[in-house]
Amino acid sequence: MGLGTRADYGELAEQLAALIEGEPDLVANTANMAALLYNGLPELNWAGFYFARNGELVLGPFQGKPACVRIAWDAGVCGTAAALGQAIIVPDVDAFPGHIACDAASRSELVVPLVTGRRVVGVFDLDSPRPGRFDEEDRAGIERLVAILLAHHPDWP
Ligand code: SME
Repeated sequence: MGLGTRADYGELAEQLAALIEGEPDLVANTANMAALLYNGLPELNWAGFYFARNGELVLGPFQGKPACVRIAWDAGVCGTAAALGQAIIVPDVDAFPGHIACDAASRSELVVPLVTGRRVVGVFDLDSPRPGRFDEEDRAGIERLVAILLAHHPDWP
């Protein structure tokens, strides 16, 4: 992104906190977080969750085109981030071995795992049609937002 068009993750963090305040429902809050970021960040074609279910990842609330429903724990960018428990920035999805193409328009990707204590309970995935769309500032920003969500749900199932 050019100067002056960077996402304001501080403002997005405040908006997320306001959206989930007082609401205990996990589906409602993750759905609103996906919608907030899909609409609040430029150059995205997908934003949403995969949740850990019996050792694999299953599609959760998202914005964008319909996506792959199940991803093996260590498959694709999402499964790799889940298995490592670390965020992954993929500047060029064609150069990532095993990348799972849900939407052919996706050119770059950022996946942040949802880590509660020592457990990975899912991932948050952002896709962009622009190569190299995501940088370290996006990773830190999304990790901040994920931390707000997880702190709000200390008893994540
Ligand atoms: N590209 C992801 C799959 C999920 S979709 O992009 C929504 C991956 O390789 O894990």
